[in-house]
Amino acid sequence: MREREAITTADFNYIRDLVRDQSALTLETGKEYLLEARLDPLARLEGFASCGHLVRRLRTGPFTDLHRRVVEAMTNNETTFFRDPRVFGMLANSVLPSLLAARSAERSLTIWCAACSTGQEPYSVAMLLREHQPSLDGWRIRIVASDISRGVLARARAGRYSQVEINRGLPASRLVKYFSQHGSTWELSPEIRQMVEFREINLIQSWQHLPAVHLILMRNVLIYFDMAAKRSILEKAGQLLDPRGYLVLGGAETTTNLDDSFEPVSFGGAVFFRPRASR
Ligand SMILES: C[S@@+](CC[C@H](N)C(=O)[O-])C[C@H]1O[C@@H](n2cnc3c(N)ncnc32)[C@H](O)[C@@H]1O
Repeated sequence: MREREAITTADFNYIRDLVRDQSALTLETGKEYLLEARLDPLARLEGFASCGHLVRRLRTGPFTDLHRRVVEAMTNNETTFFRDPRVFGMLANSVLPSLLAARSAERSLTIWCAACSTGQEPYSVAMLLREHQPSLDGWRIRIVASDISRGVLARARAGRYSQVEINRGLPASRLVKYFSQHGSTWELSPEIRQMVEFREINLIQSWQHLPAVHLILMRNVLIYFDMAAKRSILEKAGQLLDPRGYLVLGGAETTTNLDDSFEPVSFGGAVFFRPRASR
């Protein structure tokens, strides 16, 4: 058996810079334990004796798919169905009805879930919209969901969830309505799955081929970025968003002091961001 090799400061700095350059995620000094916890499983899977050996290989060769997978392994994919019930309550009762009223002449609505992780967020939106049927018959509804991580996108497309994932945020009424059980797994019905199209999009790279969007959910991802990355992503979001549209961020995120082209609007204690009328 080969010896374990600890992560050195140079290894840590290399991964910190790789992850920042490829994804904008920041890895603070002192987070060596996090790096080892996230990279050890990948190192084992790839046949390296330790995380240290894996990093040494990355540092001495050209950029490969292994580098991409290391960046992917450093992402935090925490998510749940209907995460933050106040936000989903206001989406269902105020924001979606007002967007649908504003779009009634065009009869089309496009929603983008940027950083969708394993799919619970876009599928929660799809369930809300499904519950507006039949009044949406004849509408063109697009829900585009994206993430940087191919691993989570594959899981999202499959639409299969464990009991633990189901227990987090999904009301029993919707479990019965939209899921079927296969052993220890719950499978989402094709009618909801086919409402969402998944794509790989890195928020710090080009957002090519995205249509104009009426609602952007970009939740619990900006918190991991530095100021410059947050500003540049919000600026691009402002350009993509319809002037009557809404941006939804995570509970700890805001546009304030980052991008003046948005103004916060409070709906029943949940904050949404809207393009300022003057822009
Ligand atoms: C904490 S999860 C949030 C999931 C969901 N939006 C929610 O609020 O429940 C953050 C997601 O952002 C993704 N992510 C991190 N950096 C990214 C980047 N540069 N571009 C796109 N997605 C990124 C991660 O892969 C992860 O799935």
